[in-house]
Amino acid sequence: MTGEPATTPTEADTRPNVARMYDYFLAGCHNFAADRAAAERILEIFPDTRAAAQTNRAFLRRAVRYVAEQGVRQFLDIGAGLPTQGNVHEVLRAVAPDSRVVYVDNDEVAVAYARRLLPTDGRTVVVQGDVRRPDELLADPEVRRAIDFDQPVAVLLAAVLHFVPDADDYGGVGVRR
Ligand SMILES: C[S@@+](CC[C@H](N)C(=O)[O-])C[C@H]1O[C@@H](n2cnc3c(N)ncnc32)[C@H](O)[C@@H]1O
Repeated sequence: MTGEPATTPTEADTRPNVARMYDYFLAGCHNFAADRAAAERILEIFPDTRAAAQTNRAFLRRAVRYVAEQGVRQFLDIGAGLPTQGNVHEVLRAVAPDSRVVYVDNDEVAVAYARRLLPTDGRTVVVQGDVRRPDELLADPEVRRAIDFDQPVAVLLAAVLHFVPDADDYGGVGVRR
């Protein structure tokens, strides 16, 4: 799960990417023509998608702020997408700068972006992992280095479970351990 991703972001990438499409809905600047075209197709079918994405991100920010204000200093964000447009570490930098964040995504493109964009301050870690394989994720050496599981941890699953098909039993993901 660790190491350099095989795929690196390039404007020549003609395949739409979920994380970059979401960035487009959030009015970000980390998206390419193929992402914008696919996102516009979705907006034709579901015109509220942009508002839904922005409302979701605003909820995520409020939730992180609230949990940090209760004293939690460790955040495991699974299905993190691109770490832009007011994502978790940006909220925490303002509220509780001593917090640690592990961003997890199963998409190597999102992981590549995150590794490029994030500060190398030791408090923000990026791991390629899959919400459908929690045992693997929790055993990842980078996750275990960053998070002390004897202390409180906020696990964030924001706008990710709808990517898990019924056949993968998303209802069972959280109860296997
Ligand atoms: C819509 S974005 C959500 C970003 C952020 N969590 C938020 O709510 O603002 C969903 C992200 O989940 C990732 N994802 C989809 N399936 C996943 C899986 N099985 N495991 C981990 N990440 C997944 C996608 O690659 C995408 O970057």
